[in-house]
Amino acid sequence: MNRRATVLNELGLAPLWVRREQLAAWQEAANSATAAEAAPAERAAPHQTTPAVSASEPAFTPLAQAAHHKIEAQLEHAPSTITKAPSQGAAAIHQVLQARKPGHTQTSNPVPPQLETQLDERASAIAQMNWAELQQAIRDCTACKLCQTRTNTVFGVGNPQAKLVVVGEAPGAEEDAQGEPFVGKAGQLLDNMLASIGQRRGDGVFIANVLKCRPPGNRNPQADEVAQCAPFLHRQLELIAPKVLFASGRFAISNLLQDDAPISALRGKVHQYRQLPVVVSYHPAYLLRNMPDKAKAWRDLLLLKTTLEK
Ligand code: URA
Repeated sequence: MNRRATVLNELGLAPLWVRREQLAAWQEAANSATAAEAAPAERAAPHQTTPAVSASEPAFTPLAQAAHHKIEAQLEHAPSTITKAPSQGAAAIHQVLQARKPGHTQTSNPVPPQLETQLDERASAIAQMNWAELQQAIRDCTACKLCQTRTNTVFGVGNPQAKLVVVGEAPGAEEDAQGEPFVGKAGQLLDNMLASIGQRRGDGVFIANVLKCRPPGNRNPQADEVAQCAPFLHRQLELIAPKVLFASGRFAISNLLQDDAPISALRGKVHQYRQLPVVVSYHPAYLLRNMPDKAKAWRDLLLLKTTLEK
């Protein structure tokens, strides 16, 4: 690679995943005096290096301007039903979640029954909601501490009758600011990945997260936050009833499959969530930092495509 292209790379100005012939064209352009104008407008994450593209690797195109359609409220003024549940300590809720895992054996520290009951009641109330009620309940939710630091709740985006639902972890800073999932760099890569299998945000795809509010500083979600928030996702999935789920990243995968195995052990086969086929893969934010794994992600996308076409 010439010096100019190397510098662009170091600045994080390389394209994301590109067609082989496109990459060659850009590299040729980078050799000329007009290289800067010839480079694509979309930018990769800092520290990303240009992927080495081989014949067996994906035909990812440069990022198209994704159509970010907003969900339109289906009904006006839905009643605000169960939006407030008493916030519970993370440790106690962690204990409840552990106790619910398959194969869990009773410890000397039993789960407080009233806490179990509260969580069950909340989940059952959410499980009765229609789409508009769910939108409102999420907008008004104060069930965990994340409500104190969020700017916007992030319900999800796309077609409520989508064939494909992508599930991520939680909003980041840009998603919190805009109220839409996956709008930052990871989101651009996700759009790019979806485009490579003929899917597009806002068309036949719905994109959601396990958590609807941003954990401050992008820290990992905590057990109490997941316990209060996950019923929203489960109801969304029930109402959308898609053909296939695409679980993106360890957190979404373990939440949907109730399996904490590493992604490397889970990817490559179709799993089940409540009768729905689930394809798992690496989170786009991880792929931005670990480009060598993009070839595996490409195989996951092909599996997703064939599962959708069945
Ligand atoms: N990462 C996620 O998992 N979800 C988002 O919405 C943004 C980044």
